[in-house]
Amino acid sequence: MAILLPGGAGFIGSHTAVELLNAGKEIIIIDDFSNSKPSVLDAIKKITGKDFKFYEMNYMDREKLEKVFEENEIDAVINFAGFKAVGESVQKPIEYYTNNISGALVLLDTMRKYNCKKFIFSSSATVYGDPETIPITEDCKTGGTTNPYGTSKLFIEQILKDIYISDNTWDICILRYFNPVGAHESGLIGEEPQGIPNNLMPYVARVAAGTLKELSVFGNDYDTPDGTGVRDYIHVVDLAKGHVKALEKLDKEKEGLYIYNLGTGKGYSVLDMVKAFEKATGRKVPYKIAPRRAGDIATCYADPKKALEELGWKAEKTLEDMCLDSWNYIQKSEH
Ligand code: UFG
Repeated sequence: MAILLPGGAGFIGSHTAVELLNAGKEIIIIDDFSNSKPSVLDAIKKITGKDFKFYEMNYMDREKLEKVFEENEIDAVINFAGFKAVGESVQKPIEYYTNNISGALVLLDTMRKYNCKKFIFSSSATVYGDPETIPITEDCKTGGTTNPYGTSKLFIEQILKDIYISDNTWDICILRYFNPVGAHESGLIGEEPQGIPNNLMPYVARVAAGTLKELSVFGNDYDTPDGTGVRDYIHVVDLAKGHVKALEKLDKEKEGLYIYNLGTGKGYSVLDMVKAFEKATGRKVPYKIAPRRAGDIATCYADPKKALEELGWKAEKTLEDMCLDSWNYIQKSEH
């Protein structure tokens, strides 16, 4: 029985593929390389010493997807095939809603057809909008998303809840990621943003490497200890391990709908991140204070207790690990 990973060549998908293979699971990756590279597949094999099946295809291609289900015995699906660039989603709402929502519907409909009802969904802390209380627990109010990317995550969560109401033999886990950063310690896989990165950590890494001149710190007048935005940065390998634990939970429970925050529970500011990166790498990260970025909130970090209690999972890697692994990856890849 295999685990199907649409988008498994991407940033979070590839790290999860490694952890699943390390845990002795059989996996199948499908990817169209719209935001990843074919060489990632070899890197996953090199890291784990294990092989897996791969289909180059768009996960929305129903005919090809049915063929994948015909040809294999698939026990569960973990969906990593969503588009994820916040700014781009504002420019391309139709593309984002089509890929993320229509894609998820094609996938879920095909799963139902082949009686595969175990599903793990990559959601995001963005579904909490501007959070009412910090740290954020899973029962905090959701909604108030400020871009199509975030709204697509919110809608898919609702779709999953409705599917479970209609048929409670589904076994669904929604994982709300906080801010995934870092890379595999081998330096063979990591984050590969196309063009100029939007997210903080890949931007900082490129400034340290000298590829970009300086960081713009988006606002220093937030209600936070140093005035800059505070986030819950989580090492991507810890996040990947969270999926293995979620899968074990679904295997154990047989049916249900579960929601977990995957974060560290610690908040770091933009300037904390700059300092940590400088300390870990010995490089300077020049920055300037710039106006606030539209749609940003002051503070966002998780209460990760539920995942600890119910999944036996907690983030183990430090901020230094995140910086060192991100730096190691960027030095090994061509930037
Ligand atoms: N920031 C800067 N300069 C930059 C980039 C970011 O100052 O060049 C700041 C932001 O203003 C924010 C912090 O760094 O305060 C983190 O920004 P990111 O863009 O790295 O991350 P976000 O918290 O905005 O969003 C990320 C993902 C979303 C996800 C969300 C969940 O991009 O997909 O985390 O919390 F939904």
